[in-house]
Amino acid sequence: MELNTIEEIASYIVADGKGILAADESNPTCGKRFDTIGVESTENNRRDYRELLFRSSGLKGNIGGVILFDETIRQNAKDGTSLVEIMNNVGALPGIKVDKGLVPASDGSNEVITQGLDGLDERLREYVGLGARFTKWRAVIKIGSDMPTDECINGNAEALAEYAKKAQNHGLVPIVEPEVLMDGSHSIEECFEASSKALSSLFNSLKSHNVNLAGILLKPSMVTAGSSAANQASPDEVAKLTIECLKDNVPPEVPGITFLSGGQTELQATKHLDLMNKIGGFKWKLSFSYGRALQAGALKAWSGEPENTFIAQDVLSHRAKMNNLAAQGKWSEDLEE
Ligand code: 13P
Repeated sequence: MELNTIEEIASYIVADGKGILAADESNPTCGKRFDTIGVESTENNRRDYRELLFRSSGLKGNIGGVILFDETIRQNAKDGTSLVEIMNNVGALPGIKVDKGLVPASDGSNEVITQGLDGLDERLREYVGLGARFTKWRAVIKIGSDMPTDECINGNAEALAEYAKKAQNHGLVPIVEPEVLMDGSHSIEECFEASSKALSSLFNSLKSHNVNLAGILLKPSMVTAGSSAANQASPDEVAKLTIECLKDNVPPEVPGITFLSGGQTELQATKHLDLMNKIGGFKWKLSFSYGRALQAGALKAWSGEPENTFIAQDVLSHRAKMNNLAAQGKWSEDLEE
């Protein structure tokens, strides 16, 4: 299929219940994931694992894009085919993480700001040559005593907008990701407030930088209580408050909202997405861009053993299908058996 404009690329990625496989773990983060299964994080092991993911039959029709790390977009499969070609063949567009990680927002601050604007144009140009069609930049917002500050929220929003404008100038769809971390004991109401502020500031910055909102994808966290909060919100509350927060802040011309999973289990992430789509009443596609909530079961099933490849691929294929249904409000728990 010909996808010529950023609007077409963005709409394609989230069409018909499709979503995104986030496989852009940096090498240290990949190392942490591999530690849980006792596998060493070498270049070849990372390649073997990701080749397994991208060759899973369930990507086709369920996954519209895969976010890659710099190493992966340059790698070839064992048989010499580039990993980019493998995903293109099943209709999953290659995307690339382009930020350069987190630094303290100011000296001694607990808050962080995302860096990576230096040299971004050159990197984007190279990634276009390597086949990327979209990009990702992740900002992190923490909830805690005196956090988040306006400086942190606005500084991250400005960086996201500058990045998004540059990506669009290169014909790439920017995923803008303002992640409000689940870490902490805060209430769901505090998360609602922090998320609202972050989204409001983000769209102000995107508009002032003349970013084409029909050619972006928003990757937010869901509105939940902190992971160590005594009072956890019900799935219905998470769905209701997340939708309310998004409706208050996200303009209808944004084609797709693809959630991160942020530490939710695979089932929670699917269930929340399904509930929101069952509520409905919005113009954007509401879909997924999960890392852990798509990969956790497959990673465990693989455990570094080549003979487990097919079973691990089945596990990922199933999750991709379940999330495709959830992105259309057509999932139910009995389909998990
Ligand atoms: P999780 O779904 O594991 O949070 O990862 C998504 C992601 O890409 C975070 O930037």
